[in-house]
Amino acid sequence: MDDLVMIGPMMPNVMQAVAENFDIHRYWQADDKAAFLKQHQAARFLATDGHLGCSAALMDALPNLEIIACYGVGTDSIDLDAAKQRGIRVTNTPDVLSDAVAELAMGLMLALCRRISDADRFVREGKWPNGGYPLTGELTGATIGILGLGRIGKEIARRAQAFKMQVVYHGRTRQRFEPYPFYDNLEEMAHDADWLVSVVPGGDATTGLVNRQVLQALGPKGVVVNLGRGSLIDEPAMIELLKSGDLGGAALDVFENEPAMPQELWSMPNVVLSPHQGSATEKTRWAMGDLVVRNLRAHQAGMPAITPVV
Ligand code: NAP
Ligand code: 8YV
Repeated sequence: MDDLVMIGPMMPNVMQAVAENFDIHRYWQADDKAAFLKQHQAARFLATDGHLGCSAALMDALPNLEIIACYGVGTDSIDLDAAKQRGIRVTNTPDVLSDAVAELAMGLMLALCRRISDADRFVREGKWPNGGYPLTGELTGATIGILGLGRIGKEIARRAQAFKMQVVYHGRTRQRFEPYPFYDNLEEMAHDADWLVSVVPGGDATTGLVNRQVLQALGPKGVVVNLGRGSLIDEPAMIELLKSGDLGGAALDVFENEPAMPQELWSMPNVVLSPHQGSATEKTRWAMGDLVVRNLRAHQAGMPAITPVV
């Protein structure tokens, strides 16, 4: 069997499917990483995830690498230029996770808007008999500005329409065949939106895209929702504006230095937090794993990758 270096663990049935085709070498379990890499430097196959990625240094330590299969759609933690220079293929897992991520986007918005977690606590703490829970906002009729109307963004748009929301979007380019109004200026879209939902990829080009001006334009009644990458938002500015009331709320699945995050967020009532759960369902993680295996096997058989990035 071919040797495969796996950077971090995947769910058990994915591990099993990989193990049926490859001899897995578990990088995360190695105490001495340098010795591990030396021992497995003949490996041509590598599997990683969107958090752990693969650096140029790791590629150099595995000079026979031919393919890096990413268990995720976002490849910002993989040095794609370095892979290109070394002729290493990179694959990811697009589309199969879009429904799950869009579902969580709606879940976070509902949770914040209808204060579901707080109302649940209110009932459990026995407060209901002493008086009803305060009135909340609702999604119906509100405007959702989608930053990144890509595969996931389009699924969020469909769901938002089912909730009778007005959908608008911003990206680098207008998509001629999409029915939603396009803003070529993010700040202007934020000004007009009640909800700003960010699902663009991470990386240098998008770092800090949702800056102080954008958040201020969203305003005291606006909410920022982030399922893309933590790097997209100026986190300190967001916290400052949340505290001062100049930003209405935040629903966040991703964070700049996750799993660490500024603890100030924990106590804010106008914030909903999720531990990077967008694609984290049994069904979707299995579909992602299946795609990882199919990409690796295609390469093994000398075939084109199924979902190539590089
Ligand atoms: P996609 O289909 O490539 O869509 C990305 C969208 O972002 C495109 O519409 C693109 O439009 C826009 N975009 C890219 N660069 C931009 C920029 N500089 N300014 C404005 N817009 C920009 O990707 P996807 O499959 O929807 O995934 C999007 C991202 O979601 C992933 O890369 C990942 O970071 C994140 N994600 C998170 C989770 C989670 O668990 N929270 C799960 C999966 C994915 P233009 O080309 O027109 O600009
Ligand atoms: C995963 C993601 O949590 O696909 C992505 O870009 O962020 C998530 O699906 C991540 O890749 C870890 O596997």
